[in-house]
Amino acid sequence: MKKSTVLILCLAVMALATLTGVVSAENEVIKIGALQLVEHASLDAAYNGFVDGLAAAGYVDGENIAIDFQNAQGDQANLLTISERFVKNKVDLILAIATPSAQAVASATTEIPIIVTAVTDLVGARLVESYEAPGTNVTGTTDAAPAAQQLALMIELYPEAKTLGVIYTSSEVNSEIQAEQMTKLAEEAGLKVETGTITSVNDIEQIASSLSGKVDMIYVPTDNTIASAMPNLAKVAEEKKLPVFCGAPAMVEAGGLATIGIDYYKLGVQTGAMAARLLKGEAEPATMPVESLEEVDVVLNQTVADAIGYTFSEEVLAKAAEIYTE
Ligand code: TRP
Repeated sequence: MKKSTVLILCLAVMALATLTGVVSAENEVIKIGALQLVEHASLDAAYNGFVDGLAAAGYVDGENIAIDFQNAQGDQANLLTISERFVKNKVDLILAIATPSAQAVASATTEIPIIVTAVTDLVGARLVESYEAPGTNVTGTTDAAPAAQQLALMIELYPEAKTLGVIYTSSEVNSEIQAEQMTKLAEEAGLKVETGTITSVNDIEQIASSLSGKVDMIYVPTDNTIASAMPNLAKVAEEKKLPVFCGAPAMVEAGGLATIGIDYYKLGVQTGAMAARLLKGEAEPATMPVESLEEVDVVLNQTVADAIGYTFSEEVLAKAAEIYTE
């Protein structure tokens, strides 16, 4: 062999070694894109649970996985831009928190596995074909609220109530589904229902005031817009001495009177465990059933009760898993 040929061969082998070395080093760290619609306590808890659930299964952020966490600040355009960026960066898995984020990432890719959490109704939001067999690149956990138990709690606290006001954001399919479900159940229980829809947080105080003369209590589902503006709703409710029942415990902590709901941190942990099974190649979204949490807790807000002049009975207090006070 000519000297120059040997040299070229050597260089080629060296180049190949470095190249493969680099490539495999990159492959060792799994890339996860995480998209959260907005910052509010329930969604934050679900994300923290997800990270801990993955870690419990051996996937530790900053070690063998790299999570690119993005908060869309409640903005639809941000949701789409971030989703497209995840696809361009070829992440291995996407976590989407809440319905609008899930819909945005699902519209950006039908290839990359997507795991969702805190999504009210995956079928209603057209993310999966069914909970038993998603049939798409999407699976995860639903936070469907225990509506019948929530209504039972409202009636237990306010047995004299005749009219229920329901407020939700018209653009949130998750809220629309819950509002319809609660309306049906409440009417079956003999209550009259007055519905008020909002398009942004700016409408909350006005809608609450206009409903206040007509209703004995208010119900708000796990609505992302309302969740980030609970203090505004609580302010009007306090003035009008109206109880606000909520879809999720964190909304009670932020100014609602009571609810019966799930623990979003636990839901996130369960979602992290599902994600680990996907990463290990033990399952794929299309055939991995959607999961939920069975366990629900009664939560009360004593400060709100005091502000609206309501006294919780001993029985109700005894049932509470959490009683918030300021
Ligand atoms: N379930 C909501 C969705 O599907 C998200 C959500 C979870 C939420 N917990 C909440 C919204 C509490 C408001 C308050 O988008």
